[in-house]
Amino acid sequence: MDAKPAAKKGYQVPWIEKFRPQLLKDVVGNEETLIRLQAIAEDGNLPNLILCGPPGTGKTTSVHALARQLLGSAYKEGVLELNASDARGIDVVRNRIKSFAMNKVTLPPGRHKIIILDEADSMTTSAQQALRRTMEIYSNSTRFCLACNISTKLIEAIQSRAAILRYSKLSHEQILANLLKVCEAEEVAYTDDGLEAILFTAEGDMRHALNNLQAAHSLAKGGGTASASTSLVNQKLVFQVCDQPHPTVVREMIDACQKSDLPLAIESLNKLYGSGYSASDIIGTIFKVTKVHDSLPEGEKLGYLREIGFTHMRISNGVNTLLQLLGLISRLCQMSESKQ
Ligand SMILES: Nc1ncnc2c1ncn2[C@@H]1O[C@H](COP(=O)(O)OP(=O)(O)OP(=O)(O)O)[C@@H](O)[C@H]1O
Ligand SMILES: [Mg+2]
Repeated sequence: MDAKPAAKKGYQVPWIEKFRPQLLKDVVGNEETLIRLQAIAEDGNLPNLILCGPPGTGKTTSVHALARQLLGSAYKEGVLELNASDARGIDVVRNRIKSFAMNKVTLPPGRHKIIILDEADSMTTSAQQALRRTMEIYSNSTRFCLACNISTKLIEAIQSRAAILRYSKLSHEQILANLLKVCEAEEVAYTDDGLEAILFTAEGDMRHALNNLQAAHSLAKGGGTASASTSLVNQKLVFQVCDQPHPTVVREMIDACQKSDLPLAIESLNKLYGSGYSASDIIGTIFKVTKVHDSLPEGEKLGYLREIGFTHMRISNGVNTLLQLLGLISRLCQMSESKQ
């Protein structure tokens, strides 16, 4: 990990930037994709690339690391980055991209200039159309690297001009290993359940995990509300920072359903709803908790997940009410009762 010099006291650099890997070998997870990128970096034969996958898994990071490894000291002049915050209409494709592609830049032998189009799925279709021919015309001097969340939002013609590399969510072990490194570098005091809570809320998104760790750490250090005994990042603090329904309460609710104890389940649900969470927040946590529930028998768990899925669908279709959740827990109680 290539940490930049420590920030001045009192001023905190976001850890996601401070610990952004500078080289491909430091990017965690997605081994197959990274092996391919590493091979490209070594032999210098860069095709046009599309990197796609969920947020916070290292796409932007890898594409910059690749460019840095390919171009070395010419990285600054040899790379043009355009992301969703730049206007990327048809004019930009016609003017900025073309003029960059035509520029003469001294690069290491055999290397190409690189145009990085980050968040490419937000480019308009007409801009993408304008890009297709441009990609071919300048292919002797320039390569395109596109990063996006959903590859199908890119027009087929662009997809067929590039090699597609896929990223998937990172596993808990991969995120944990990175968190432990950061904790050591930043001298974060933590409890095991605190880190578990971060993994639980991050759902495979490294950016989310690092941001939550940093927020919980600053709260633990200086937040007046934390009691004196907790300069530790523990479970309670993490859920305070992430502001998600507390999984322990949700777990109580599921356990009550398993025992077909409807009044108790309703009580837990009211507690959650009363603390201000919306039905869609709660159903998300119900799903995550049920998925990793260890004492539900397999068959019952499948039935639960099916019902939760249907309720989730209704809620996302707009019926964001307590009644839907009450309906859900009564069906879960009924299901468990018939199993007993
Ligand atoms: N695989 C990874 N290994 C190490 N750090 C990572 C990894 N993925 C993400 N990070 C951390 O998260 C931050 C954000 O990652 P990055 O910008 O690469 O995400 P992204 O995949 O481009 O997401 P988005 O789709 O939202 O643009 C990085 O600065 C880095 O600190
Ligand atoms: Mg990105």
